[in-house]
Amino acid sequence: MALKKTKTVFFCTECGGESPVWAGKCPHCSSWNTMVEELVEKTSKVPTVDGIVARIEAVSLTDVVSESGERISTQIKEFDRVLGGGAFKGSIILIGGQPGIGKSTLMIQAAMNMAASGLNVLYATGEESPGQVADRARRVGNPTNNLKLLPTTDLAGVEKKIETDKYQILIVDSIQTLHTNELSSAAGSVSQVRQCASSLVNMAKPRGLTVFVIGHVTKEGSIAGPKVLEHLVDAVLSFEGDSFHQFRLLRASKNRFGSTSELGVFEMKERGLSEVADASGYFLQRDGGLGAGSAVAAIMEGTRPFLVEIQALTSTTHYGFPQRRATGFDSGRLAMLLAVLERRCGIELGNQDVYVNIAGGFNVADPGADMAVCLAIASSRLERPLIKDTALSGEVGLGGEIRPVAGIDRRLAESGNLGFTNLACAREKKENTEAKFRFSTLSAAINGLLVKKGEEWLS
Ligand code: TYD
Ligand code: MG
Repeated sequence: MALKKTKTVFFCTECGGESPVWAGKCPHCSSWNTMVEELVEKTSKVPTVDGIVARIEAVSLTDVVSESGERISTQIKEFDRVLGGGAFKGSIILIGGQPGIGKSTLMIQAAMNMAASGLNVLYATGEESPGQVADRARRVGNPTNNLKLLPTTDLAGVEKKIETDKYQILIVDSIQTLHTNELSSAAGSVSQVRQCASSLVNMAKPRGLTVFVIGHVTKEGSIAGPKVLEHLVDAVLSFEGDSFHQFRLLRASKNRFGSTSELGVFEMKERGLSEVADASGYFLQRDGGLGAGSAVAAIMEGTRPFLVEIQALTSTTHYGFPQRRATGFDSGRLAMLLAVLERRCGIELGNQDVYVNIAGGFNVADPGADMAVCLAIASSRLERPLIKDTALSGEVGLGGEIRPVAGIDRRLAESGNLGFTNLACAREKKENTEAKFRFSTLSAAINGLLVKKGEEWLS
């Protein structure tokens, strides 16, 4: 019997140089730790006709039939929303996140839902024993018969199961524990992760099998493993949150079948993850008036408006060099806003430590939060609170001007829903919002929105 011959060589991820053996330093470009093992298979010659490569015809775009395949619902609305309305049949989806964030919990919940809706689901786990998975499943839902567990770390084992039994869904927990015997490197290494993922893709596509692959992300955010397979999969979702807060956010950084701007919000509870459908006010922790140093920003995450409280504290510097710290907000952006406050609004901050915190642990990237950050800092520095029930939405430019942001009507509507009846935003040429306050400069906003000393809070 002829044995299938496979050969591996080592490639440098920097220069692409090849070497038959592993080396710490690339013999071609002298980079360190860049050699990864790759599988090279001897391929048969390309079929030729009279020495010319057999023709592949180009087709007109209008003649191509649409692949409008089915969507499979996970029966978790927030999950489906991020996927763009459910998982596309035959697609491969990567779910990345730090260890302990709840990836397995999310997937077992989705797996049970999909099984309950009549699909055959295979949950391949190399990470935990079947007992552990079953315990978790019973804790968060009701397992059904057509959800099967496969405790294995061997890719060939998964492949065999997929071939012999009819499954519509495969879940791999996790890609870092899977390995193929064709490579000698350890499970979790870059080459193993890549090889296993591309085998999964080859397995899934022709069968119309939908695959969810879990991948761990390191603390630094560099996805050791998953990063190298982002281009192989159809969608990359990341599951984030922090260990001090119960909420978890699911977002897509790549999605071939939907948008990447949707955000799914969950809360980790005693019995698994529960959806937070009404999330816009979820990150606001207090009712009523806020003290000096706080401002509420109406921000957008994709197409969803959220209200978040921004807190700032300024205090006189004691160590010569002022400290500037931001939690949940970009510190480079903070430095810029501080310069604008100082130069354009005359607020002295040179001898002040400035701390900015987004309450509730939310991470804000929307520049529409600029105005609220500036107002919170000014409010703390001047010890004057903001007018009651005010939410702010506006980008701040280097000239101290307030710029309009997208989706102002949705921000306005959501602020109103949550009782923030005074929305402050940029003054536009074409006034098409019903916002109560409109400013063209930051200094006008500071003058207009901070309560004067000795005055009662306006309502
Ligand atoms: P897990 O899904 O195992 O995380 P991952 O697969 O991303 O590593 O979830 C881990 C944490 O979630 C664990 O520390 C406990 C918590 N948890 C709950 O709070 N409630 C629950 O019902 C479950 C199943 C887990
Ligand atoms: Mg897990």
